[in-house]
Amino acid sequence: MNDNIYAPAMWVIEAIRTSLKGEGAADVKARLAVQNLSPGAAVDPGARRLPATRFFAECVAACMFLAHDVAAALAEIEEFLHWKQNPNYSDAVMGEGYMENYAYAEIIGPDGFFPGDDFLLGFMLLGPRRLYPDHYHPAPELYWLLTGPSDWRQDKSEFRSRAAGETIWHPPRMSHATRTGDSPLLAIWAWTRHVGVPARLVEEA
Ligand SMILES: [Fe+2]
Repeated sequence: MNDNIYAPAMWVIEAIRTSLKGEGAADVKARLAVQNLSPGAAVDPGARRLPATRFFAECVAACMFLAHDVAAALAEIEEFLHWKQNPNYSDAVMGEGYMENYAYAEIIGPDGFFPGDDFLLGFMLLGPRRLYPDHYHPAPELYWLLTGPSDWRQDKSEFRSRAAGETIWHPPRMSHATRTGDSPLLAIWAWTRHVGVPARLVEEA
């Protein structure tokens, strides 16, 4: 693969590895340590943008002081990212306008720069004043918030405001939801195992 892509992909991973802390960080780092990140394993996912990526630049600017190395690496990798959405989601189930305000991209994963071994690492974007409703998955999940604040809850508890810089850990199958305020959310996101089963929304009673 072209070193113009390999170098920034490795920079992002190293910046995350160096700065990540909080609950779940050790699990993510342990899984990261056993991934094949050699040049031979690297692939170009093919750049793909989605409407929600209009928020990317302002999110990167917002996290410059929080995580300078990550922000700088993000600016370098942006043009190569392959943004995607959960195929089970639509405006009909997520709310009017949701799909224009939500996207995620993998650094490690099937549409990332390394395929990964039962491990996903990437970014999630959610536009202002959106609710990502309660959902769950078998994968243990870490979010590291690069912008904020945003509201989070687990297991249908009360929403709590979480600031930029916080990490949030979701145990396997525990439901969780995210609500943004006036600013868009950019978060680093990882699934540490059991990545083959997609997220499912909690059925309304
Ligand atoms: Fe999740």
